[in-house]
Amino acid sequence: MRRPLIAGNWKMNGSTALVKAFGDAFAAAKLPAGVDVVVIPPFPYLEMARQAFKKTSLKLGAQTLNPQSSGAHTGEVSGSMLQEFDVAYVLAGHSERRQLYQENDEQVFDRLMAALASGLTPILCVGETLEERDADRTMDVVLRQVGYVMSRLEPAQRSEVVIAYEPVWAIGTGRTATPEQAQEVMAGIRSYQASFDAVLAEQLKLLYGGSMNASNAAELLAQPDIDGGLVGGASLKTDEFYAICQSAG
Ligand code: G3P
Repeated sequence: MRRPLIAGNWKMNGSTALVKAFGDAFAAAKLPAGVDVVVIPPFPYLEMARQAFKKTSLKLGAQTLNPQSSGAHTGEVSGSMLQEFDVAYVLAGHSERRQLYQENDEQVFDRLMAALASGLTPILCVGETLEERDADRTMDVVLRQVGYVMSRLEPAQRSEVVIAYEPVWAIGTGRTATPEQAQEVMAGIRSYQASFDAVLAEQLKLLYGGSMNASNAAELLAQPDIDGGLVGGASLKTDEFYAICQSAG
């Protein structure tokens, strides 16, 4: 049985007040047993979040990392630095990194390898644009992104990776994929993994992201191949994010 995982990607949002609000709210709240919950704030808030979340079961994540361990990479952050702040998860290949910062499959792979080398769990983000979906190329695009990474990993490494399917056209738009659309892609990813290893395919944790909120989370999470969510806007509100976590229980 795959443990549900709900991750909140704050993107370039948040404040010290919001970090404190999450610490207070989730210290008082009882999360459903067996659900892993990750908060992914911007880098400057990691230490405060680490302190504020001590009395909660919230885990910490980061939004990206540099493939190098150190050096002349102004503005960048390494996996070992994230490890020092008890970061457990890191996104690799979020569509905003791919689109706004021209991260290609090779660069995403390098970042994912750096995450594994630092003992972090990578969340590999994949998803098609509306044009690609309208051209009936969804699975081609998603399996290219997944395959580029998974085909280059050792079996043991593959089992460490979480995959988040985030249709680009659903991110920040309020236009959520239907549970059937999301399930179809997830099932396609899982059956692709089975070509490597049936056990791996069964164990692989698959998250949906793209306008998930308190009103649609339960239906999405009820799908057989959806094991959790990668939440953007709705993760900035303690009550709504908590409600989504409840739906995963
Ligand atoms: O990483 C999660 C994010 O891309 C989804 O954003 O605002 O559509 O939930 P949102």
